[in-house]
Amino acid sequence: MTPSSQPAVRAAVALAVTVAAIGLAMLVLGDRAYEWVKAVHVIAIISWMAGMLYLPRLFIYHCDAPKGSQQSETFKVMEQRLLRIIMNPAMVIAWVLGVWLAWKAQFFTSGWFHAKLTLALLLSGVHGYFSAAVRAFAEDRNTKPTRHWRIVNEAPTLLMIGIVILVIVKPF
Ligand code: HEM
Repeated sequence: MTPSSQPAVRAAVALAVTVAAIGLAMLVLGDRAYEWVKAVHVIAIISWMAGMLYLPRLFIYHCDAPKGSQQSETFKVMEQRLLRIIMNPAMVIAWVLGVWLAWKAQFFTSGWFHAKLTLALLLSGVHGYFSAAVRAFAEDRNTKPTRHWRIVNEAPTLLMIGIVILVIVKPF
């Protein structure tokens, strides 16, 4: 297996396990499955957000480490592990469970859900951008300055605030 196919395999495994877990929860828990799936959705979101908030912070420190130094190589390992082991599977699980919750509770016609989905898509776009940055840092190709990562660092926080208000308050 090539190293580039490994993240796709991990994402596929996370997807398969999540779908199987939903099926099992529906069978065993019946009417209570919704609450349990929602709890796991929130756990996945916390894991995903932990990475989305920490990864750009690592990029800021990485910018200051000279290329080829021991410190720079350590940051590469930290960034890759955070992305592949925590963030990618957590994002897949959050999406699958979120879509199932929306289908089960028939939220697909609600205004707040459309807005939440838009912000979740933007958050996933930022995830993709961070993923590309991890590859660039790994190959010593990053050209963006510390200031850029300090600004980008705020995007996940702002999106998360909007998403949580939308799903809890459901203002429209
Ligand atoms: C990735 C796509 C996502 C989808 C499709 C999705 C969908 C949903 C749905 C349908 C619910 C159930 C709402 C209810 O029962 O009232 C829910 C709950 C929740 N979601 Fe998401 N979600 C997604 C991502 C996120 C993100 C990125 C966050 C936070 C940053 C988040 C935070 C929450 C929270 C805190 C709850 C619990 C709300 C409550 O119990 O009142 N979700 N989500």
